[in-house]
Amino acid sequence: MTASHDLIHDVLIVGGGLAGCRAALEIARQNPRLSIGLVAKTHPIRSHSVAAQGGMAAVLNNVDPEDTWQAHAFDTVKGSDYLADQDAVAILTQDAPEVVVELERLGVLFSRLPDGRVAQRAFGGHSHRRTCYAADKTGHAILHELVANLRRMGVTLYDEWYVMRPIIEAGEAKGLVMFNLRDSRPVVVRSRAVMLATGGYGRAFNTTSNDFASTGDGLAMAARSGIPLEDMEFVQFHPTGLYPVGVLVSEAVRGEGAYLRNAAGDRFMATYAPSRMELAPRDITSRAIVKELLAGRGIHADGSAGGPYVHLDLRHMGEEMIMSRVPFCWEEAHRLLGVDAVHEPIPVRPTIHYSMGGIPTDTSGRVRSGPDGFVEGCFAAGEAACVSVHGANRLGSNSLLECIVFGRRTGRAIAEYLDKGRVLPDCDSDRYLSEANAELAALIDRPGTERIAQVRQDFQDTMTQYCGVFRTQELMQTGLEQLQAIAQRVEQTYLGDRGTCWNTELIEALELRSLFIVGQTILSSALQRQESRGAHCREDYPDRDDDRYLQHTLAYWSPTGIDIRYMPVTLGLFEPQARNY
Ligand code: FUM
Repeated sequence: MTASHDLIHDVLIVGGGLAGCRAALEIARQNPRLSIGLVAKTHPIRSHSVAAQGGMAAVLNNVDPEDTWQAHAFDTVKGSDYLADQDAVAILTQDAPEVVVELERLGVLFSRLPDGRVAQRAFGGHSHRRTCYAADKTGHAILHELVANLRRMGVTLYDEWYVMRPIIEAGEAKGLVMFNLRDSRPVVVRSRAVMLATGGYGRAFNTTSNDFASTGDGLAMAARSGIPLEDMEFVQFHPTGLYPVGVLVSEAVRGEGAYLRNAAGDRFMATYAPSRMELAPRDITSRAIVKELLAGRGIHADGSAGGPYVHLDLRHMGEEMIMSRVPFCWEEAHRLLGVDAVHEPIPVRPTIHYSMGGIPTDTSGRVRSGPDGFVEGCFAAGEAACVSVHGANRLGSNSLLECIVFGRRTGRAIAEYLDKGRVLPDCDSDRYLSEANAELAALIDRPGTERIAQVRQDFQDTMTQYCGVFRTQELMQTGLEQLQAIAQRVEQTYLGDRGTCWNTELIEALELRSLFIVGQTILSSALQRQESRGAHCREDYPDRDDDRYLQHTLAYWSPTGIDIRYMPVTLGLFEPQARNY
């Protein structure tokens, strides 16, 4: 039974990005006596949230007095192609101003207007200038303040610890099995509540704006525990990944006035979204770029047509604006490609950026076990979760907002839940420990012929080729078959490093398992949705089909296959309409 050497916390949060850190801060504020453990496989400051650039939407009316939360909610629901849950969107947009002011009081250095108020810029799919920002380093500015405050509030940080699994028995969360990268020795940590805030899975594809750690571990551990994954077919391409590396060139650059041009020098967005041009939502802009490339209007390095990218042209903005509003983007293009964006256009093409789907939750962050039930003591928020405020397509600058609004709400819900007297559940720690030890030993000792990096590359190439901006039944079916073939090779992988101290290859082996679960779930969910909606664009089913698919997908993964079911969408504010820009 429970071992005396188990570590114990009131709550364990997995993930050190904005959602996890904001939740931890809120729990500590609500009840300073609660013991909070925050576990992350990198140092929290290195979580992918730190790379968020362009900003965080909130109706402050500092620049645009006409803006309202209802307008923000409408833009978000229309952007989502009507798949977002409108009760969650109302909370997101109504809470937004308050959470920005709170962050500002915490010390976050937002960029300012000349009169000292927080500055706001335009962003794709938003009808008003409402995106607050810290130049083009907004995630960095927010995360640093949150992490500094966690330390002040006495949160215990387990940084550079890898979580192997949550302990969930009979629909009840009881803690985590995890190990320190320093010694790879598993421990059981028991808790009265567990929160998953592990971010996205961009590394399931070969070109992404995400960091190396974005491998969908939280989604995979939820799936392996029997929790369904919601709306996984909706994978966001950011239109402007720096070509060829794929890192982000912020939408803020277009928000500040940059143009997209094809090989003829034309601002081609006039064809695809005449009323919004470069500030159309991301699904539409990404499809427009890919169509330009397929039509031979992409650009080669020598300037000729038929190449693999289009141009993001900042030259008319002038040096002062570029260097003050989007200095990081200038720096990236210069450092990585030698392009001086003051004088030359930047080569860009779509790059995998964000997961609209994830672990299903209600608006208090409680994890759903299905359409009607919840997992006792289990919570989730941020990109790993699906609450769902983004539906089939997220608007830029709504994700930092989601992390902060729903991180705070989930933190409050956890503190309340614990204060109501949830007891520390019991579990057979010795059994979990021996299983974890056996699993790690099997990986470390496995004889084999395949290298992890090669299998991962083949997996990423398959996802990219068969589950891209445009999809068909045949393409995705082939992709799934190829994944099955690659999965056999995973069993043949071996580790070059057979030690237990800082064995990063061991982490890569575990991450590869996560990536496969995520990839299979994305493709299976996408195959079943026979319509086009938001980021899920099927050439064989080009129209949205509200009669059949105004529903959330719930994918139940198991080692033997994936079972797809559906769950109703919450409407209430806006009726679905045709989506034109
Ligand atoms: O383009 C960007 O700066 C990204 C923002 C976002 O994904 O919200």
